[in-house]
Amino acid sequence: MSLNLFFGVPLLVENIDAATRDVIHAKVSRYLASERAGRDIRPAAEESVSTSYYKPEAQVLKDAELVELEHFVLASATQFLEGLRLGPRRLEIERSWINVFKPGAQEAQHSHDGSLLSCSYYVEAPKDCGCIVMPDPIGARRVHREFTKTAGSDVLTRREIAIDPQPGRLVMFESWLPHYVQCNKSEQVRISIAMNLREAPLQVAVPKVQHGAAAAPTPRAAPAESPHAKPFLFEEIFEVRPNLNLRMEPVRNEIPTVVVDDFLKDPEQARALVGAAPAANWKHEKGGKNFVDYYDCRLRFPIRYPNAMVAAAQQVIRQVYQVATRPLDASVDVNWFKQITGKRADFAFPHNDITEKVSRSFTCVVYLNRHDECSGGTAFFRFKKSGSLVLDEPYTIAVRDDPRLAETGRDYWPARAEEIWEFVGAVDMAPGRLLIFPSEYFHAAYHPQNSFYEFPRLTLAFWMVA
Ligand SMILES: [Fe+2]
Ligand SMILES: [Fe+2]
Repeated sequence: MSLNLFFGVPLLVENIDAATRDVIHAKVSRYLASERAGRDIRPAAEESVSTSYYKPEAQVLKDAELVELEHFVLASATQFLEGLRLGPRRLEIERSWINVFKPGAQEAQHSHDGSLLSCSYYVEAPKDCGCIVMPDPIGARRVHREFTKTAGSDVLTRREIAIDPQPGRLVMFESWLPHYVQCNKSEQVRISIAMNLREAPLQVAVPKVQHGAAAAPTPRAAPAESPHAKPFLFEEIFEVRPNLNLRMEPVRNEIPTVVVDDFLKDPEQARALVGAAPAANWKHEKGGKNFVDYYDCRLRFPIRYPNAMVAAAQQVIRQVYQVATRPLDASVDVNWFKQITGKRADFAFPHNDITEKVSRSFTCVVYLNRHDECSGGTAFFRFKKSGSLVLDEPYTIAVRDDPRLAETGRDYWPARAEEIWEFVGAVDMAPGRLLIFPSEYFHAAYHPQNSFYEFPRLTLAFWMVA
């Protein structure tokens, strides 16, 4: 016999990484010292907390420029909805406010009715500053537990759940869930940012209609004559050649790379199509070098299973690395790079492609350039500080201490690279060649010649994970 659970109360507790936590803390401290915060944060009329909640025009995420927190919250909300198995929805932050609990302050039980999800992020949370507590929302059951003395400490019998706030921690729940905040018994302030999320309204552009007279139809420009202006079938343009020959081609006997030549049946048609498609920026930052010295852009094509390219990569990985994988996304990306002014280094930022929450990941790259355009390929590196070829703790710590080590939107070319990285070797580009390697290896786009001024460097990329 088994006992089934029929109702649940979902709750997400997620800690942000230490570097982002510190960035948010610095921004909030700056905001708290500002005149605006002095105006907006007021003691609540009937509570002991000071808050910007009662100033609806104040939005602490915007006022304190907390973009990192906004991203983290939206990503966590996506996870939350995945957990509810509700399917994707586009969410937005409806309200955000800051709560400052002085020693002795607490907050009575309430809920955030009217929103979809709510959350609290802790900026400062000294020891004993008070937990956020969610009592069992079924009142009848709470009374029953008291009356029958059947309260326990597990999921079936607990009367409440208390979550210890920690700096950098996010607690997210459905907005209906009643909760309260215990008394701050520490000597310092407890600072949290509360947010409500809702489903983003659909943005539909409605054409303006002139009343009275019928609006004259606007003449449409004839579409430009281009062989690629037509829709295309992905599987036809990126058709995989049958009878593939794969070969292990370890880079300097250290990096287990696999190469499949002539992976695509007709790389030329893929090149022509992708090279002519308008590409949007990738990792663009104001004041950065993208769109000044070079164009670093991306295209993304949706794929549908069964997909020949993914299936072939899956087979290769199973055969070579003995790992059963699935695609990370239902899409493949094209890295679209073109030089504007002189090249400033031989390779892009060394990095790894490890994504969270997978146990293995393999990077799959298909080169799309023509023979006469091919130059360089993909390079692999050793992180000098630890001597490691793969993502390790010294690297994680080094990036935390100096975020300029990591790939950002500011520049494609790394500064001081030779102090930090040892170039180990590279796999050359070739039209239609597939390269696969485990994503934890440090790698980067390799540009030994000053090329890609006339036509972009085109690489198709997708990731297979386990
Ligand atoms: Fe609340
Ligand atoms: Fe990469």
